[in-house]
Amino acid sequence: MTTDELEQLLAQQPVAVLHRLARGRVHRHFRAGKRRLIELLLQHSSQNLAGLESDLQTLIAERQPPAQPARSPGRAAGRAPAPPSKQPLPGGGEPGIGEPAVSLAAWLEGLGVPAPQPFVPDPWQNEALRALDDSDVVVSVPTGSGKTYVAVEAARRAMEDNRTVIYTSPLKALSNTKFTEFSRIFGSDKVGILTGDRQENGQAPLLIMTTEILRNLLYDAASGEIDVRLDTLGLVILDESQYLADPERGVVWEETIIFCPSQARLLLLSASIGNPQDIADWLSSIRTTPCRLVRHSKRTVPLRAGYLHPNGKLVPLFKTAAIPHGHPTHLHPEAKRLFIEYEEETLPSGRPRR
Ligand SMILES: Nc1ncnc2c1ncn2[C@@H]1O[C@H](COP(=O)(O)OP(=O)(O)OP(=O)(O)O)[C@@H](O)[C@H]1O
Ligand SMILES: [Mg+2]
Repeated sequence: MTTDELEQLLAQQPVAVLHRLARGRVHRHFRAGKRRLIELLLQHSSQNLAGLESDLQTLIAERQPPAQPARSPGRAAGRAPAPPSKQPLPGGGEPGIGEPAVSLAAWLEGLGVPAPQPFVPDPWQNEALRALDDSDVVVSVPTGSGKTYVAVEAARRAMEDNRTVIYTSPLKALSNTKFTEFSRIFGSDKVGILTGDRQENGQAPLLIMTTEILRNLLYDAASGEIDVRLDTLGLVILDESQYLADPERGVVWEETIIFCPSQARLLLLSASIGNPQDIADWLSSIRTTPCRLVRHSKRTVPLRAGYLHPNGKLVPLFKTAAIPHGHPTHLHPEAKRLFIEYEEETLPSGRPRR
């Protein structure tokens, strides 16, 4: 076979076959699109084109459907008939990896607005609210678990007790969102906001502010200049308090906790963090009130990973609906095919397209 014939034969093969041929021949072959892969195969085998051809023929033979063996009634007894050989997935699923790849429909299943159901607090939410009766609380749970419910209920209870509440978030935008959300829940007369950009209803029993503003307020209170009453403060909620570990802004959370009036309960809400017990222990050590940790790590809303190609096509990123830990062979064959197609379209191949 001439080099041109071999090149043509290679071009007729699905890209999965080319990748199998490239194993051990071409470094990081998965990064190459089909055209580039053929070039690399020919280039890297220029001293041994016969070997490349022989391996290619073997792979082609492997892909032929096997001849039906003559039935032996004895051996076939009790066996289910062999399934028809499957069409390879577009772009070629890697043979030998086993499990079938999740379909787009299965991967998307269950997305959307769920049917309304009565609200039932999760056990950790009740536990956090109970713990606030006699202690400060650090909540460390995954994103989307329902920390807002704990904040709202704790604020409601404090206000029913004629105590004031301060809720802080790290961002002005988040403070604005919470201002709207809490005004809807409690009524706009009950909620105020103090950020660098916005001061409204500063005497309301529930005040929303950025953590920096609260820290400054506590500084002012320490020096006797104060325009917000802190003597009736019953609860301070520090949302997104994983910022405590932030190399630059963490000190703001630290100082806020240190200067927080002792009569006010502290509720720290955070996404999962590595050492929440250390934080709870630190709070217990510096404040007169003990601090309890409420934590769990199971995601209520599992993450799904997909790949959106610039041409608008959406495919699962991995072979499984859940996100696997670690190995690139778990990539969905269709996503793999789109990566290659994208590279083929965008990377200069050095050869004119045919
Ligand atoms: N017990 C519950 N049962 C069902 N849904 C709940 C429950 N608690 C909260 N939710 C819903 O879960 C969603 C996420 O809640 P929320 O925004 O409070 O999460 P979060 O923990 O604050 O997340 P983030 O880390 O992104 O701030 C909301 O739609 C909320 O209504
Ligand atoms: Mg939240």
